[in-house]
Amino acid sequence: MLKFPDKFFWGSATSATQSEGSFTGDNKAYNIWDYWFEIEPYKFHNEIGPSKTSSIYKYFESDVELMKKTGHNSFRTSISWSRLFPTKDGKINETAVEFYKNYFTKIKKEGIALFINLYHFDMPMYLQEQGGFENKETITRYKDYAKACFEFFGEYVDRWFTFNEPIVHVECGYLNTYHYPMEVDPKKAVQVAFNTAVCSAAAIKEFRKLKLKSKIGIILNLTPAYPRSSNKEDIKAAKIAELFANKSFLDPAVIGAYPKELIDIIKKHDLMPVYSEDELEIIRQNTVDFLGINYYQPLRVKAKECMPNENAPFSPLYYYDIYDMPGKKINPYRGWEIYPQAIYDICVNIRKNYNNIEWLITENGIGVENESKFRKDGKIEDDYRIEFMKSHLKYLHKGIQEGTNCIGYQVWTFIDCWSWLNSYKNRYGLVELDLETDERIIKKSGYWFKNLSDNNGF
Ligand code: BG6
Repeated sequence: MLKFPDKFFWGSATSATQSEGSFTGDNKAYNIWDYWFEIEPYKFHNEIGPSKTSSIYKYFESDVELMKKTGHNSFRTSISWSRLFPTKDGKINETAVEFYKNYFTKIKKEGIALFINLYHFDMPMYLQEQGGFENKETITRYKDYAKACFEFFGEYVDRWFTFNEPIVHVECGYLNTYHYPMEVDPKKAVQVAFNTAVCSAAAIKEFRKLKLKSKIGIILNLTPAYPRSSNKEDIKAAKIAELFANKSFLDPAVIGAYPKELIDIIKKHDLMPVYSEDELEIIRQNTVDFLGINYYQPLRVKAKECMPNENAPFSPLYYYDIYDMPGKKINPYRGWEIYPQAIYDICVNIRKNYNNIEWLITENGIGVENESKFRKDGKIEDDYRIEFMKSHLKYLHKGIQEGTNCIGYQVWTFIDCWSWLNSYKNRYGLVELDLETDERIIKKSGYWFKNLSDNNGF
C-alpha cells in the first residue's frame, strides 16, 4: 500500500464560472465568457454557455454533503470577480457576499479545508472593455478586489491563490484565440503576462498587511518540456520551451525575478513590456508561501525543422516545434498525452530548483466524452479515471519519498463542470451531472476517492 504523509489534503477543484451559474436577482455582471457566448454561441460545444452549470450557487448545501461522501478533506474553488464587484464604480454586491459566506460556512462546518482562488480566466467585462490585464489600471482594481476578498472571507479560507494558470489567459487570449479577446498580439501578450505577475505580487502584499493566519500561493499548470532526443539542438529547443511554458510565471512567483535568458529573448524580439522599478520591487518582495500545481500533460519538443517566418507574429514556436512522439499514450477525447512520470519530474524540479517550497497538486484528471456508455446499474463505472489517478499518484508518492514537500492531491473535478469552449464535451467529475435534471450521481471513481482519502493511500 502507498501511504501519503499525515494530514495530506485530498479533494477536488473547480472554479466560480464553471460551477456557480447565474440566477435572477444574483446581481452578477457579465464576465468575458458571458459576453463571448452572447455574441458567438456557436464557438461553444453544443452551444451551451456559462449560465448552465451544476449551479452550486443553488445547491451548495447538498453539494457539500456530496464532498464528504467522496472523501474530500479539502476543496478548491474561486470567487467570481464580476459577481462580487458587478459595476465599474467598485460597489460591492451584498448578495454575493452573503452567498459566499453561506457557501464557505457550510464547507467549514463539515470540516473541509477551503482553498480559494481569486482569478480563474474570468475577467469582468467592464474591465475587459478597458483592456483587461493589458491596462495598468486593472492592477489597482485587482488589488482592491483581492483585499476585499481577504477582508470579507479571510476567516473561512485556509489557503488562498492569486491566479489559476495565468499563462493560459496570456496564450489563449493574446496568441491562440481560445479565450476572449481572441487577439494575436505578442506585445500585448507579454504586457498581460507581466501585469498579471504584478497583480499577483500586489495581492500578496495586501494579504501580508492583514496578518491572516492562512497562506497564499499561485496555481501554475506545469508542463515539463522534454526534448525529442539527446541531440543538442533538441535539448536547446526544450530549454527555451521550458522558459516560456513554465519559468515565465514560476520564477517571478517563487524566486521574485525573471530568468535572464527569457528577458534576452523578449528583448531580442522587441517585446519588452512597460514596467517600473517599483513593480519589479513588488514582484521581488512578495513571493508565494506555497504553490498549487496543475498537471495534465507534458510538452514534447524538437528543434525547428524550417526557418520561422520573420513576418509572422511572434510566438514561442519561433524557437521549437511540437514533437508528436510515436507511441505515446493519449486521451483521445482531449488529445492530451498521458505521461504520469512527469509528476515525479515536477517533484524533483520543485525540490532542487525552487527551494523545496511547499506545494500540492491542485488539478489532475481525465476528461472523457459520452461517459454514459460506461453506466452499469445506474452508475458510471469510470475505471479509466481510477487508473489515471493511481498511475499519477504512484509517481507523486515516489517524489514525496525522496523529499519533495507535497501536501495534497486535488483532482479536476468534483461534479462534471462547464468547461469554456469545450462546454460539457468532456466530463471530468467524480460525480456525474445530469444536464436535464441537475441530478448528481457519484461515479465509481468518487467511491474510490473516498477510500483513498479514508486510508490516506491505496
Ligand atoms: C485546466 C483549467 O487547465 O483544465 C480548468 O484550470 C479546465 O478550468 C481544465 O476546465 C480542463 O480543460 P478542458 O478544456 O479539457 O475542459
